[in-house]
Amino acid sequence: MIPSTVRIVDVGPRDGLQNEKQPVATAHKVELVHCLQKAGLREIEVTSFVSPKWVPQMADNVQVMAAIERAPGVRYSVLTPNLKGLEAALPTKPDEVVVFGAASEAFSQRNINCSIAESVQRFAPVVEMAHAHGLKVRAAISCALGCPYQGEVTPDEVEHVVRLMKDIGVDHCGVADTIGVGTPRRVQAAMERALKHFPLAEVSGHFHDTYGQALANIYACLEMGIHTFDASVAGLGGCPYAKGATGNVATEDVVFMLDGLGIATGIDLDALVDAGAFISEVLGRPPVSRAGKALLAKRERIAA
Ligand code: HMG
Ligand code: MG
Repeated sequence: MIPSTVRIVDVGPRDGLQNEKQPVATAHKVELVHCLQKAGLREIEVTSFVSPKWVPQMADNVQVMAAIERAPGVRYSVLTPNLKGLEAALPTKPDEVVVFGAASEAFSQRNINCSIAESVQRFAPVVEMAHAHGLKVRAAISCALGCPYQGEVTPDEVEHVVRLMKDIGVDHCGVADTIGVGTPRRVQAAMERALKHFPLAEVSGHFHDTYGQALANIYACLEMGIHTFDASVAGLGGCPYAKGATGNVATEDVVFMLDGLGIATGIDLDALVDAGAFISEVLGRPPVSRAGKALLAKRERIAA
């Protein structure tokens, strides 16, 4: 049942950088995307078309999209929470857009300022217009394993949103552990609910690594045949509206594990470590990735 190939979406430029308090130059964001595509990433979540008052770090969305030198075979996605976001995103020519809802009412209010039901009403015309422009639409379901405001989130609550997203015609369902509290069996229970409504190829996992569970959770998904995961180079990330949540699972760590399992990703781990080192230097701190740090230390030992 374990898949032989895995598709990784690097969400570092978006989820990774959205939470940074320090300014990050547009040119550095663009360079990060270039490093990722050079490392073999074929799916990159580049930026979000959200309110710059809510997430100032993503205010240069148009400039970033315009400056990327696109590589053949790479798909670039952006977040679009409403029609205003989609209308701003369309001229920048993304390949895919992401609508992001939540399995918890409290988080929906804090993150996008409306209820779950209202959010889905807002997403419906986004999906319709995106499809009319030939774009794929991915839904992210935040707080599927726990919520910083509500606490526990049940599989029934996850399935409720999955069903609503299915009803408005999204193509893909991403199940997100925003605060990293999920553990493998609970993750499988949430994923089962997504798989009731979407095919295996259109269900993905998005795991923040706050409690160190992300790799175990990915393995639990692999056991179910799920073969698409979000990850963030250098373990960057967090959500400004989920305090205390740390970054996504580091792409380097996921690729190291998958390489060890003999699962193909098309990603060159050495080049990925370079990408992680580049953005970490820009941010002035070491990569959070364990594999990234270990491989950089090994390079230093060999060079010495
Ligand atoms: P709102 O204030 O309710 O929106 O925000 P509004 O429609 O009342 O508009 C208020 C102002 O925002 C107006 O401007 C609009 O024009 C503007 P004003 O007249 O005051 O100058 N506005 C926009 N500007 C730019 N782009 C837009 C846009 N929409 C309205 N698209 C809104 C609602 C959704 C916009 C707001 O709550 C928002 O931007 N939230 C973003 C939150 C966010 O980006 N969170 C992080 C991403 S989600 C995440 O990280 C989780 C994920 O990784 C999965 C996981 O880990 O769980 C995906
Ligand atoms: Mg996230």
